[in-house]
Amino acid sequence: MIYLDNSATTILDPEVLDAMMPWLTAGYGNASSIYKIGRSARVAIEQSRTEFAQLIGAHPAEIIFTSGGTESNNAVLKSCLVDSKLASSLVYSATEHHAVIHPAESLAQQGFDVHEASVDALGKVDLEALAKRPLEHALVSIMHANNETGVIQPLTAIRTVIKDALLHSDAVQSFGKVPIDVGRLPVDFLSFSAHKLHGPKGVGAMFIRKGIDFKAHQQGGGQERNRRAGTEPVALIVGMVTAARLAAEQMDHRTQHMRMCIATAREMITSTIPNVRFNTPTDDALPNILNVSFLDAEKLDGESILQAMDIAGVAVSNGSACVSGSLQPSHVLKAMGLPESEARAAVRLSVSKDTSIDEVLMASTLLSEIIRNMRV
Ligand SMILES: Cc1ncc(COP(=O)(O)O)c(C=O)c1O
Repeated sequence: MIYLDNSATTILDPEVLDAMMPWLTAGYGNASSIYKIGRSARVAIEQSRTEFAQLIGAHPAEIIFTSGGTESNNAVLKSCLVDSKLASSLVYSATEHHAVIHPAESLAQQGFDVHEASVDALGKVDLEALAKRPLEHALVSIMHANNETGVIQPLTAIRTVIKDALLHSDAVQSFGKVPIDVGRLPVDFLSFSAHKLHGPKGVGAMFIRKGIDFKAHQQGGGQERNRRAGTEPVALIVGMVTAARLAAEQMDHRTQHMRMCIATAREMITSTIPNVRFNTPTDDALPNILNVSFLDAEKLDGESILQAMDIAGVAVSNGSACVSGSLQPSHVLKAMGLPESEARAAVRLSVSKDTSIDEVLMASTLLSEIIRNMRV
């Protein structure tokens, strides 16, 4: 199999598994216990927290471990409006992941003031339209990079426009691919997940800027400084931070390699498949994603292309893993102005540090054969 769906998830790095093993076996203590194996689990978690904080220029107290990107997004949105009452309205961009859109819709159903911010043809938030909104006491949730197209949002310009409103950014896709330094990135909250960067599934984190009176959305024990209840999964936390460290140490090398893979795919598709539209811009995009749609969409739909690629031995997606398998056209591409048929006839290739150029060449050749056959 050629695996080109690394935005859905990535393979666990063997070094990450090695780091996790002691905490899955002999080191099984509960980090809240006072005896020795509990205390050593606590030390492992706090060392991981310090290391993670350093990687993004944060203070350890600003990092809260969670079960992943979905929980982090839900916790920030719901806590800000419901539990902490830090904001009285919510604005989110039309191209957010469902882990933001669905909690936002749920808050709207509960009677909160919730608005969607439009994006331009590249998928970047329309700053002029955003500037016209009343944003006093608002929480604005705009992702750092999009999971379907890879486009990176201009968070600094967004901050200028939204002034003192709270800013949350879903950094699940950007983390480990582009540098994140909270000393420079003008956000109040960030969401992270481990499994997009060769870490384990089921673990993530929130960055909550110092001074924000954040009350737990999930209640129970007093873990995570009373901001997220639940026994800490020591192995998963150690695994996530090991993966994050490796991604940071190797970022230049990995980025260069992934950019080369994506440039190769772009060239191959351009030269062998007519009537395509690239939905991933060449600038301001993640190094590992290429989203392409096919313009004579009445003959092609994304689902059939994915199935044909699967039979040919290539795993690709048409967007967010959470919607693949359903026939819904991409809400991201529709928000960028693509007609419904083109939003349906799209394929996303996403590479990783482990993808080889040969795999990219083979997958592009198979894609062009499949499209040619479907077009006749
Ligand atoms: C942008 C984005 N946010 C959130 C999530 C959800 O993260 P997790 O799978 O860790 O819950 C994903 C996963 O596809 C994502 O791509």
